[in-house]
Amino acid sequence: MTYQIPETVRAGRSRVFVHVLDSGERVVVKQDNEPRGRILHLLQRVAYRLTGAPLLAPTVLAPDVSRATFEAGVLRRYGALGLPVPKVLYEDPSYLVLSHEGEPLESFLRDNPRSARSQDLIAEALAALRALHEKGHAHGGAQIRNFLVRQDGRIVLIDFEENTGSAPLEHMKLRDLLQFLISLSKRDSQLDPVAVCSIYDASGRSAERLGSILARYRILKIVNRKPFLRFRMKDVRALVTLIEKLA
Ligand SMILES: Nc1ncnc2c1ncn2[C@@H]1O[C@H](COP(=O)(O)OP(=O)(O)O)[C@@H](O)[C@H]1O
Ligand SMILES: [Mg+2]
Repeated sequence: MTYQIPETVRAGRSRVFVHVLDSGERVVVKQDNEPRGRILHLLQRVAYRLTGAPLLAPTVLAPDVSRATFEAGVLRRYGALGLPVPKVLYEDPSYLVLSHEGEPLESFLRDNPRSARSQDLIAEALAALRALHEKGHAHGGAQIRNFLVRQDGRIVLIDFEENTGSAPLEHMKLRDLLQFLISLSKRDSQLDPVAVCSIYDASGRSAERLGSILARYRILKIVNRKPFLRFRMKDVRALVTLIEKLA
């Protein structure tokens, strides 16, 4: 496909842009324009070296790597494996143009996370994550905002800009599952993480392994006490809830 990045997109600052082509087809233009927070990532790397904790596994790309080129490569490989990912329509070092695949699962779950339809979509999303894992890959950013619901109800995985090769694959898979659970529990405070894990893995092993990893973070429960209660820390609180339910 020959594709001209529209001037409005080049001039604009937004990172992701939905472009409606003359044919009526919608495409997504992703721009590689964000500086990467070096210091935080350096700290994360050091902490991972010291602790070996899967949650801390660094996944940020090296500064000299084009994220667009990296993601295009990943999407092509995964597409060739038959995994549900968008098609790469155009790429250069600054832009990536993808087939528009649907709306984020997160938006579907926002209003009614416990409806039967939502439960079906969550199960579909876990099946897609599982398929990726079974092909020997991890996502690196498996929050529910990175799962799209297509018009036909199928799930499509997006946002592959993380370097998942920096830690053992088994760590990365558990990290994916945990990211999924954290993002889901922010939508549904009544979430039963053991039940969700058993959709991913009927043997119950993943819930068990996550539980034993999370047990090491019990100290985080202090965020639910004074004086920490006045800080928002949504992700940390979601993590604490999971620790309480899984560890
Ligand atoms: N192929 C796609 N089809 C439809 N929407 C998409 C697609 N890719 C990205 N989006 C939308 O853009 C948002 C951000 O894209 P994403 O690839 O997740 O980049 P970021 O690194 O900024 O999170 C997604 O949450 C989704 O709403
Ligand atoms: Mg994203």
